[in-house]
Amino acid sequence: MRLLLTAGPTREAIDPVRFLTNRSSGKMGYAIAEAAVGRGHEVILVSGPVNLEPPSGLVDFASVESAREMFEAVRDRIGECDAAIFCAAVADYRPVKIHEEKIKKSDDSLTLELEKTEDILGSARSIFGFHGVLVGFAAETHNLEEFAWAKLEKKGCDLLVANDVSRRDIGFDSDENEVRLFFHNGRRKTMPANSKAAIGEKLVEIIEALVKGAGADASPSDLFADR
Ligand code: C5P
Repeated sequence: MRLLLTAGPTREAIDPVRFLTNRSSGKMGYAIAEAAVGRGHEVILVSGPVNLEPPSGLVDFASVESAREMFEAVRDRIGECDAAIFCAAVADYRPVKIHEEKIKKSDDSLTLELEKTEDILGSARSIFGFHGVLVGFAAETHNLEEFAWAKLEKKGCDLLVANDVSRRDIGFDSDENEVRLFFHNGRRKTMPANSKAAIGEKLVEIIEALVKGAGADASPSDLFADR
Protein backbone atom coordinates (compact mmCIF):
# COMPACT_ATOMS: atom_id res chain seq x y z
CA MET A 1 0.00 0.00 0.00
CA ARG A 2 0.97 3.64 -0.39
CA LEU A 3 1.03 5.50 2.87
CA LEU A 4 1.57 9.13 3.86
CA LEU A 5 2.82 10.04 7.31
CA THR A 6 3.30 13.35 9.07
CA ALA A 7 5.72 13.46 11.99
CA GLY A 8 7.48 15.80 14.37
CA PRO A 9 6.60 19.27 15.62
CA THR A 10 6.13 22.42 13.57
CA ARG A 11 7.88 25.74 14.12
CA GLU A 12 5.93 28.94 13.89
CA ALA A 13 8.20 31.93 13.43
CA ILE A 14 8.01 34.98 15.71
CA ASP A 15 11.01 36.79 14.24
CA PRO A 16 14.15 35.65 12.34
CA VAL A 17 15.60 33.89 15.42
CA ARG A 18 12.57 32.84 17.49
CA PHE A 19 9.68 30.46 17.04
CA LEU A 20 6.85 28.64 18.83
CA THR A 21 7.08 24.88 18.93
CA ASN A 22 6.38 21.86 21.17
CA ARG A 23 8.05 18.82 22.70
CA SER A 24 7.41 16.34 19.88
CA SER A 25 10.55 14.36 18.94
CA GLY A 26 9.09 12.72 15.84
CA LYS A 27 10.08 9.28 17.16
CA MET A 28 6.60 7.71 16.94
CA GLY A 29 6.04 8.84 13.35
CA TYR A 30 9.51 7.78 12.25
CA ALA A 31 9.02 4.38 13.90
CA ILE A 32 5.79 3.85 11.96
CA ALA A 33 7.50 4.97 8.74
CA GLU A 34 10.34 2.53 9.36
CA ALA A 35 7.96 -0.35 10.13
CA ALA A 36 5.91 0.39 7.01
CA VAL A 37 8.99 0.46 4.76
CA GLY A 38 10.12 -2.80 6.37
CA ARG A 39 6.78 -4.40 5.51
CA GLY A 40 7.23 -3.45 1.86
CA HIS A 41 4.97 -0.40 1.62
CA GLU A 42 5.53 2.80 -0.33
CA VAL A 43 6.00 5.45 2.32
CA ILE A 44 5.90 9.23 2.00
CA LEU A 45 7.12 11.04 5.10
CA VAL A 46 6.33 14.72 5.69
CA SER A 47 8.40 15.80 8.66
CA GLY A 48 8.81 18.85 10.82
CA PRO A 49 12.25 19.65 12.28
CA VAL A 50 13.57 16.63 14.24
CA ASN A 51 16.95 15.14 15.16
CA LEU A 52 16.32 11.86 13.38
CA GLU A 53 17.57 10.32 10.15
CA PRO A 54 14.75 9.57 7.73
CA PRO A 55 14.42 5.80 7.31
CA SER A 56 16.00 4.50 4.11
CA GLY A 57 13.67 3.23 1.42
CA LEU A 58 11.08 6.05 1.53
CA VAL A 59 9.52 6.89 -1.83
CA ASP A 60 9.35 10.58 -0.87
CA PHE A 61 10.54 12.73 2.01
CA ALA A 62 9.43 16.32 2.57
CA SER A 63 11.15 18.37 5.22
CA VAL A 64 8.98 21.26 6.40
CA GLU A 65 8.98 23.81 9.20
CA SER A 66 5.63 25.48 9.69
CA ALA A 67 2.06 24.18 9.81
CA ARG A 68 1.39 25.98 6.54
CA GLU A 69 4.31 24.21 4.83
CA MET A 70 3.17 20.87 6.25
CA PHE A 71 -0.38 21.52 5.02
CA GLU A 72 0.90 22.23 1.49
CA ALA A 73 3.24 19.23 1.46
CA VAL A 74 0.39 16.91 2.52
CA ARG A 75 -2.07 18.48 0.08
CA ASP A 76 0.36 17.89 -2.80
CA ARG A 77 1.07 14.23 -1.90
CA ILE A 78 -2.01 12.64 -0.33
CA GLY A 79 -3.89 12.02 -3.60
CA GLU A 80 -2.81 8.49 -4.49
CA CYS A 81 -2.40 7.18 -0.94
CA ASP A 82 -4.26 4.24 0.59
CA ALA A 83 -3.72 5.47 4.14
CA ALA A 84 -2.68 8.72 5.80
CA ILE A 85 -1.33 8.77 9.32
CA PHE A 86 -1.07 12.13 11.03
CA CYS A 87 1.44 11.76 13.81
CA ALA A 88 2.78 15.29 13.69
CA ALA A 89 2.27 17.60 16.64
CA VAL A 90 1.20 20.55 14.54
CA ALA A 91 1.14 23.90 16.32
CA ASP A 92 -2.47 24.98 16.80
CA TYR A 93 -1.60 28.69 16.72
CA ARG A 94 1.02 30.88 15.05
CA PRO A 95 1.93 34.53 15.47
CA VAL A 96 -0.27 36.77 13.32
CA LYS A 97 2.77 38.83 12.42
CA ILE A 98 6.28 37.55 11.78
CA HIS A 99 8.65 40.38 12.68
CA GLU A 100 11.20 40.95 9.93
CA GLU A 101 13.84 41.99 12.42
CA LYS A 102 14.73 40.49 15.77
CA ILE A 103 12.37 41.85 18.44
CA LYS A 104 14.33 44.09 20.80
CA LYS A 105 14.00 43.89 24.55
CA SER A 106 12.30 47.13 25.55
CA ASP A 107 9.02 47.15 27.48
CA ASP A 108 8.43 45.06 30.59
CA SER A 109 5.91 42.92 28.80
CA LEU A 110 5.32 41.86 25.25
CA THR A 111 2.08 40.53 23.81
CA LEU A 112 2.05 38.16 20.88
CA GLU A 113 -1.17 37.86 18.95
CA LEU A 114 -1.78 34.33 17.67
CA GLU A 115 -4.06 32.95 14.99
CA LYS A 116 -5.14 29.40 14.23
CA THR A 117 -3.01 27.33 11.90
CA GLU A 118 -4.34 25.10 9.15
CA ASP A 119 -6.02 21.97 10.53
CA ILE A 120 -4.27 19.39 8.35
CA LEU A 121 -6.06 16.31 9.69
CA GLY A 122 -9.37 18.15 9.58
CA SER A 123 -8.72 19.04 5.92
CA ALA A 124 -8.04 15.48 4.76
CA ARG A 125 -11.66 14.64 3.96
CA SER A 126 -13.14 18.08 3.45
CA ILE A 127 -10.45 19.92 1.48
CA PHE A 128 -8.10 17.26 0.08
CA GLY A 129 -11.00 14.89 -0.73
CA PHE A 130 -9.10 11.94 0.74
CA HIS A 131 -11.05 8.65 0.72
CA GLY A 132 -8.40 6.30 2.10
CA VAL A 133 -7.90 5.09 5.65
CA LEU A 134 -7.39 8.12 7.88
CA VAL A 135 -5.51 7.82 11.16
CA GLY A 136 -5.23 10.69 13.63
CA PHE A 137 -3.26 10.98 16.83
CA ALA A 138 -4.32 12.70 20.01
CA ALA A 139 -2.09 13.80 22.83
CA GLU A 140 -4.15 14.67 25.85
CA THR A 141 -3.40 15.40 29.48
CA HIS A 142 -6.96 14.76 30.70
CA ASN A 143 -10.33 13.38 29.56
CA LEU A 144 -8.47 11.31 26.98
CA GLU A 145 -11.28 8.98 25.99
CA GLU A 146 -13.93 11.66 25.65
CA PHE A 147 -11.68 13.84 23.46
CA ALA A 148 -10.60 10.83 21.41
CA TRP A 149 -14.16 9.85 20.39
CA ALA A 150 -15.04 13.46 19.64
CA LYS A 151 -11.94 13.99 17.48
CA LEU A 152 -12.45 10.70 15.63
CA GLU A 153 -15.93 11.79 14.63
CA LYS A 154 -15.16 15.41 13.86
CA LYS A 155 -12.15 14.72 11.63
CA GLY A 156 -13.62 11.71 9.83
CA CYS A 157 -10.92 9.30 11.06
CA ASP A 158 -11.07 5.52 10.81
CA LEU A 159 -8.72 5.20 13.74
CA LEU A 160 -7.62 7.57 16.48
CA VAL A 161 -4.45 6.75 18.41
CA ALA A 162 -4.40 8.46 21.77
CA ASN A 163 -1.66 8.82 24.32
CA ASP A 164 -1.65 10.38 27.73
CA VAL A 165 1.04 13.06 27.68
CA SER A 166 0.63 13.85 31.37
CA ARG A 167 2.93 10.84 31.96
CA ARG A 168 6.61 11.70 31.58
CA ASP A 169 7.81 8.10 31.25
CA ILE A 170 6.02 7.55 27.94
CA GLY A 171 5.01 9.65 24.97
CA PHE A 172 6.85 12.82 24.06
CA ASP A 173 10.56 12.31 23.43
CA SER A 174 10.50 8.88 25.04
CA ASP A 175 11.49 5.65 23.24
CA GLU A 176 8.47 4.00 24.82
CA ASN A 177 4.81 4.63 24.39
CA GLU A 178 1.48 3.26 25.57
CA VAL A 179 -1.41 4.05 23.29
CA ARG A 180 -5.12 3.54 23.21
CA LEU A 181 -6.87 2.93 19.93
CA PHE A 182 -10.37 4.13 19.13
CA PHE A 183 -11.96 2.73 15.97
CA HIS A 184 -14.66 4.32 13.85
CA ASN A 185 -16.99 1.39 14.57
CA GLY A 186 -16.89 2.12 18.29
CA ARG A 187 -14.34 -0.50 19.27
CA ARG A 188 -11.31 0.33 21.31
CA LYS A 189 -8.08 -1.33 22.29
CA THR A 190 -5.22 -0.54 24.64
CA MET A 191 -1.73 -1.39 23.50
CA PRO A 192 0.42 -2.09 26.52
CA ALA A 193 3.59 -0.04 27.02
CA ASN A 194 6.22 -1.03 24.52
CA SER A 195 8.98 0.44 22.38
CA LYS A 196 7.82 2.87 19.73
CA ALA A 197 9.33 0.45 17.18
CA ALA A 198 7.08 -2.39 18.38
CA ILE A 199 4.03 -0.13 18.54
CA GLY A 200 4.84 1.16 15.04
CA GLU A 201 4.96 -2.38 13.73
CA LYS A 202 1.60 -3.27 15.29
CA LEU A 203 -0.03 -0.06 14.06
CA VAL A 204 1.08 -0.78 10.49
CA GLU A 205 -0.46 -4.28 10.76
CA ILE A 206 -3.73 -2.76 11.93
CA ILE A 207 -3.69 -0.14 9.18
CA GLU A 208 -3.04 -2.87 6.59
CA ALA A 209 -6.17 -4.66 7.84
CA LEU A 210 -8.21 -1.44 7.67
CA VAL A 211 -7.00 -0.76 4.11
CA LYS A 212 -7.93 -4.31 3.08
CA GLY A 213 -11.38 -3.49 4.37
CA ALA A 214 -11.28 -6.16 7.01
CA GLY A 215 -12.60 -3.61 9.46
CA ALA A 216 -12.39 -4.07 13.17
CA ASP A 217 -15.13 -6.70 13.23
CA ALA A 218 -13.80 -8.97 10.55
CA SER A 219 -10.27 -9.28 11.85
CA PRO A 220 -9.49 -12.89 12.73
CA SER A 221 -6.52 -12.17 14.95
CA ASP A 222 -6.14 -10.32 18.18
CA LEU A 223 -5.43 -7.11 16.28
CA PHE A 224 -8.66 -5.56 17.40
CA ALA A 225 -9.28 -7.25 20.70
CA ASP A 226 -12.34 -5.83 22.37
CA ARG A 227 -12.24 -4.16 25.70
O1 C5P B 1 -6.28 18.56 18.12
P1 C5P B 1 -4.99 17.85 18.27
O2 C5P B 1 -3.79 18.69 17.99
O3 C5P B 1 -4.86 17.03 19.51
O4 C5P B 1 -5.07 16.80 17.08
C1 C5P B 1 -4.10 15.87 16.93
C2 C5P B 1 -4.22 15.24 15.57
O5 C5P B 1 -4.51 16.21 14.58
C3 C5P B 1 -2.91 14.64 15.15
O6 C5P B 1 -3.19 13.57 14.29
C4 C5P B 1 -2.25 15.79 14.43
O7 C5P B 1 -1.26 15.34 13.53
C5 C5P B 1 -3.42 16.42 13.71
N1 C5P B 1 -3.33 17.86 13.52
C6 C5P B 1 -3.18 18.36 12.23
N2 C5P B 1 -3.16 19.72 12.02
C7 C5P B 1 -3.26 20.57 13.06
C8 C5P B 1 -3.41 20.09 14.37
C9 C5P B 1 -3.43 18.72 14.57
O8 C5P B 1 -3.06 17.58 11.30
N3 C5P B 1 -3.22 21.88 12.82
